[in-house]
Amino acid sequence: MTAPLMSLTWTDHVTGRQGFLVVDRLVRGVSSGGLRMRPGCTLDEIAGLARGMTMKEALHYDPQGRYVPLGGAKGGIDCDPRAPGAYEVLVRYLRAMRPYIESFWTTGEDLGLTQDLVDRAAAEAGLISSIQAVYPLLDDETAARRRLADAFAVEVDGIGLDALVGGCGVAESALTALDLTGVPYAGTRVAVQGLGTMGGATARFLTRAGLTVVAVADIKGTVLNPDGLDVEALLAARDAYGTVDRAALRPGDLELPGDAWLAVDAEVLVPAAVSYAVDTTNQERITARWIVEAANMPVLPEAEKQLAARGVTVLPDVVVNSGTNAWWWWTLFGDIGPDAGEAFAHTRRSMRALVKQTLSRAEADGTTPRAAAHAIVADRLPVIEERFGWYQ
Ligand SMILES: NC(=O)c1ccc[n+]([C@@H]2O[C@H](COP(=O)([O-])OP(=O)(O)OC[C@H]3O[C@@H](n4cnc5c(N)ncnc54)[C@H](O)[C@@H]3O)[C@@H](O)[C@H]2O)c1
Repeated sequence: MTAPLMSLTWTDHVTGRQGFLVVDRLVRGVSSGGLRMRPGCTLDEIAGLARGMTMKEALHYDPQGRYVPLGGAKGGIDCDPRAPGAYEVLVRYLRAMRPYIESFWTTGEDLGLTQDLVDRAAAEAGLISSIQAVYPLLDDETAARRRLADAFAVEVDGIGLDALVGGCGVAESALTALDLTGVPYAGTRVAVQGLGTMGGATARFLTRAGLTVVAVADIKGTVLNPDGLDVEALLAARDAYGTVDRAALRPGDLELPGDAWLAVDAEVLVPAAVSYAVDTTNQERITARWIVEAANMPVLPEAEKQLAARGVTVLPDVVVNSGTNAWWWWTLFGDIGPDAGEAFAHTRRSMRALVKQTLSRAEADGTTPRAAAHAIVADRLPVIEERFGWYQ
C-alpha cells in the first residue's frame, strides 16, 4: 500500500487537543473525506479512513457519469463532541485547515458531527463552504451549488435527505445480499449499533423493506425487543448526537449493556457507530449470518478472518457506506436532481450493482468481499489516474 500523499497533526494552542488531516491521494487536484470528532481519535485511524475514501471514490467510477472520482482524504479531532468548548476546538481546527480546504480537501460530517455543525463552524472559520475546493471542476458552479443546497433542504418524514441516502445505501447492500441467497425480508432480524445518521437511516430503510429491527445500541447502551422495536419512535426521540431518550421506550423494550447488540438473535448486524467494534474476543458471540459495515472499520482484520471461517459474511465499509459521499457528487455534478425519489433510486441502483460485483468477484477469486472490493479498486485506480491525473 502506498503512503498517503500528505498527513499532518494539528495541536490546538488553547486546549492542547490534537487534530489530524490525511490526504491519501488527489484526482484532478482534489480529495474528498469527512471530518470526525471523537475522544481517542488517532492519526493512524484517520489514515485508514482516508485510504478507505480513495476506495469509495474509485468504486463509484462510472466512465459515462458526470461525476468522476476524487482522491480520498479524512480529518479527525481527538475531542468529545459533547465536551464544553468542543465547538470552539472545531472552529480553530477548521481555521488551521483553511488553506487545505480552500485548495484541495472537500469535507463534511462524520462521526460526532452533523453537517449543520460543520457548515456553521466552516463559515465561522472564514470558509465559503466545506467543499469549495471542488468548485473549479464544475461546469456551471452557480447551478451546481443551488442543486446541492436544494437537495440538502429536502426532508423525508422528519429526516434530511443528506442524512438518509447513506443508510439507503447500507440497507440496499443488505437487501442485495439477502436476495442473492434467497432469504425473504419478512422474518429477517436486524441489530444496529449506533442510531445516528447512518444507523438511524439504515434502521428506517430496513424496517420499511419488511425486516424487523430487534436491537439498537447507542452510547448509553442497547435497547432490545425480540418482537421488533418501534424504529420511528426511537428515531424521533434522538438528540443531535444520536442518543435515544429512554422515555420513548415501550413496555416490552429491554435495556441491556452497550455491547449486547452484537450477540442478540439476528440474521443481520449493522455496526453503524465506532471503528474497531468487533474484535477477536467479542466476535465469538456473534450468531448473525451477515455483518453490514455502515461504520468505517468496525470489524478488525483478525476478527474478520475468524468470522469468515465460521461462515459469517462481512459486507465491507468501502462498498456499503459509500452512498453518502457519492450522493453529494452525483447531485453537485448533475447526475441527479435535488429530489428524494431520484436520489434513492440512483443510490439503490448503484449500491446493488456494486454489491453484486463485489460478491461475484469474491466468489471468483475465492476471497472475502473486502479483498474483492480492494481488487476492484486496484484495477480501477490506474485507469482513473491515467484519465485524470493527480494534479489539475
Ligand atoms: N455520516 C455519514 O455521512 C457517514 C458516511 C459514511 C460512513 N460513516 C461512518 O458511520 C459511522 C457512524 O457515523 P454517523 O455519522 O452516523 O455518526 P453519528 O454521530 O451521527 O451517530 C453515532 C451513533 O453511534 C452511537 N455511539 C457512539 N459511540 C458508541 C458506542 N461506543 N457504543 C454504541 N453506540 C455508540 C451514538 O450514540 C450515535 O447513536 C462512523 O464510523 C462514520 O465514519 C458516516
